[in-house]
Amino acid sequence: MLKFGLIGCGRIGSMHADILHHENDVILDSVFDLNTNLAKEVSKKTGAKICNHDFELFDKNNLDAVLIASATSSHADYIEKALKNGKPVFCEKPIDLSLDRIRKCYERIKKINLPIQIGFNRRFDPSHAAIKNLLKENKIGQLNQVIITSRDPEMPSEDYYKSAGGLFKDMTIHDFDLARFYLDEDPVEIFAAGQRLIDPYMMNKINDYDTAMFILTCMDGKQCFINNSRTAVYGYDQRVELLGSNGMLQSGNHNLDQTKIYKKEFSETSSPYLYFFIERYKEAFSLQLKSFIKSIKQNSSTDVGFEDGFKALAIADAAYKSLKERKSISINYNW
Ligand SMILES: NC(=O)c1ccc[n+]([C@@H]2O[C@H](COP(=O)([O-])OP(=O)(O)OC[C@H]3O[C@@H](n4cnc5c(N)ncnc54)[C@H](O)[C@@H]3O)[C@@H](O)[C@H]2O)c1
Repeated sequence: MLKFGLIGCGRIGSMHADILHHENDVILDSVFDLNTNLAKEVSKKTGAKICNHDFELFDKNNLDAVLIASATSSHADYIEKALKNGKPVFCEKPIDLSLDRIRKCYERIKKINLPIQIGFNRRFDPSHAAIKNLLKENKIGQLNQVIITSRDPEMPSEDYYKSAGGLFKDMTIHDFDLARFYLDEDPVEIFAAGQRLIDPYMMNKINDYDTAMFILTCMDGKQCFINNSRTAVYGYDQRVELLGSNGMLQSGNHNLDQTKIYKKEFSETSSPYLYFFIERYKEAFSLQLKSFIKSIKQNSSTDVGFEDGFKALAIADAAYKSLKERKSISINYNW
């Protein structure tokens, strides 16, 4: 039985708690959140013990792993604490908002040989993964273009915006990781365009963007186009298209059910899309933890490691630079 400790019992932390609670051979042993009420809620559902301080959780000798789902600003500190206490760690994205902080974290943990996984869950989505496998099987020949559409159903709260670190590092970071996943190499250049079209008042207030497009280019010329919107009235829009010399692959949206209605006045009308990331990527969230559990049991490297977390943020940093300078920017992956 693997015993997990969980730090952060908010939106995504309580979802991870639920997955761990239902996972075979796993016990959610302990939880900590600065907001004790949220820790209590998770404890009530799972039977996990509540820790009064973060160090109480890290000091526990009986824990086999720690899952970090607290606010982004706490991730790097907690990764260091978990690994220094001999515990494999799963940490939500992003590792930090600053590349320098991630570099410092790496210096402190690089000699510790324990599994560390970053929460880029989309790689584990069955339909996104299926097109990656078909690509690897050479079903569409040489890959030339990747097109990623990622639009949220609704804007987050002002408080969330403040702690999340901006569109590129909070939301697009998933797409930057997905781009690397499909391209199978690190893009060398990026052009970014950001706009304040949905809620200009709020975006001006927090100095962020709600609408964006990106073009990433690889050394051999392969392209990736990403488009993001903080709102899409028709629901959570998550599509990937891979164009090859020999065909095209698509991973499409998921509806609530598979029914379709055809009438005189319209055709092919389906049920709405699954509401948001917790519903749409339910299987992906579960599969990514299964993959982490496997790495713990085998003490092997993880499917999405620290370096992937660093590189996605390096792309986001270059994207901000591109936006500011209004030109394509070389992406610097130097550790
Ligand atoms: N993989 C994904 O799709 C995905 C989706 C949403 C959020 N996230 C990431 O997960 C993290 C949490 O996001 P959320 O939406 O659950 O936010 P949230 O605000 O709902 O939850 C964060 C929780 O962390 C707690 N917290 C903050 N600082 C803490 C600290 N130092 N120690 C312990 N607890 C602390 C807060 O009290 C809160 O309960 C963020 O880093 C976010 O980027 C990932």
